[in-house]
Amino acid sequence: MQLAAVILAAGKGTRMKSAQPKVLHRVGGKPMLGHVLDAVIKAGVEKTVVVAGHGREQVQAYVDQGVEVVYQERQLGTAHALLQAAGVLKTFSGTVLVVCGDTPLITPKTLLDLFKHHLKSKARATVLTAILEDPTGYGRVIRDEQGRVKRIVEQKDGLPEELVVREINTGIYCFTIPGLFAVLEQISPANAQGEYYLTDIIALYNQRQMLVEACTCEQASEVMGINNRRQLAAAGKVLQTTILNRLMDAGVTIIDPATTYVDSTVIIEPDTILYPGTIIEGNSKIGNGAVIGPQVRISDSVIGENCEIQYSVVAGSETGFDCTVGPFAYIRPGTKIGAAVKIGDFVEIKKTIIGDNSKVSHLSYLGDAVIGNNVNIGAGTITCNYDGKNKYVTGIEDDVFIGSNTSLVAPVKLGAGAVIAAGSTITQDVPGHALGVARQRQINKEGWATKKIKS
Ligand code: UD1
Ligand code: CA
Repeated sequence: MQLAAVILAAGKGTRMKSAQPKVLHRVGGKPMLGHVLDAVIKAGVEKTVVVAGHGREQVQAYVDQGVEVVYQERQLGTAHALLQAAGVLKTFSGTVLVVCGDTPLITPKTLLDLFKHHLKSKARATVLTAILEDPTGYGRVIRDEQGRVKRIVEQKDGLPEELVVREINTGIYCFTIPGLFAVLEQISPANAQGEYYLTDIIALYNQRQMLVEACTCEQASEVMGINNRRQLAAAGKVLQTTILNRLMDAGVTIIDPATTYVDSTVIIEPDTILYPGTIIEGNSKIGNGAVIGPQVRISDSVIGENCEIQYSVVAGSETGFDCTVGPFAYIRPGTKIGAAVKIGDFVEIKKTIIGDNSKVSHLSYLGDAVIGNNVNIGAGTITCNYDGKNKYVTGIEDDVFIGSNTSLVAPVKLGAGAVIAAGSTITQDVPGHALGVARQRQINKEGWATKKIKS
């Protein structure tokens, strides 16, 4: 049985008060449209069409190639939006699943249940409904004495006795494609908002004796429609709870779920502990037994097994196993750290490779460096990697020992086993196993201080 999906995503999202199209606002690190696309694709649709309008170029740029984008030039309402997909679905004879781009919490299972219900009941239209504590803002589902769905009435058009109904239209439907677009064209904008409401199709189907069914979603939080930023935050909270519960069920300890944020795309292996104030984003992966937090932000990074990271920021980087990072370290994109490395307090590292068992224990900046194994970088070591125009590489081979307060003026290379005297400004390569000293000798003037006090 053929199944297509149309995602309505052309609206401006006036209530968001935003320059960005509503469906690209993020929940759990991913645009709402991305969540909806994931759900329809996982539900097994063969063809996906996105109706874009407001911010069309941004929407087009966001979606994958397999998804067709049609353009709704003027946003005249949800019925008019669905009509824009008519051309693309001409050759399709099965069912179309219509989903609003602003219901990011919808699951593939609910979409499939709706589709199955639609097929089984042989309806021409099946609307997904939900019962809400507070239905304010949603279209209400009006049923007859037999319990059949008669029509849907929008909040702004509803009579007081209709607005007390707590069963709402989720904005998600299945339609049998043959016959759909002919009825859609009959919809008029004679309503409070002067819009072509897709919801009016239910009454029109009933008038034409085309069978209408309803399928009620048990999990009402799944069908939240996001129209403003309060609802965006509320959806984010619901999504966080789902993600954190899944992680805890899979063996991750989360000390305080209320202050822990993990994107849906993140993988965390068992026996990891997340302390309060931890944020893990994007394509990040945390290995077994790691201890993350308090106050850590990790984005697009891979953290090895048994690492401990506290009060630090790690972005676009990788660490091996058994590393310790922080407190107060900043690891910037392009950094690759080996196993059992120590990155201590007030250390900034950018686009640097560090071998196994090396230590950068305090107060250092390493940028564009390639560092071997068993290297000890003393407190206050700085790579001077930038001359105002270009960036240069600092090479530090295995077993190098760098004394504190050293400046390494790149491009420069320290050979294996070299020792750098504390306080040096190294501007030339140091051969392997040599001592590099680059500072003035100390002079002590005997009795100088005593004389100074007397005079
Ligand atoms: C809509 C439903 C309402 C339902 C609610 C569920 C209608 C008339 N009302 O109301 O019954 O309870 O969703 O969340 O359908 N869009 C377009 N083009 C347009 C207008 C809208 O593509 O011309 C898109 C929007 O981008 C959005 C979706 O359709 O993703 C729904 O539009 P929105 O304005 O949010 O409708 P609601 O008022 O929430
Ligand atoms: Ca909406």
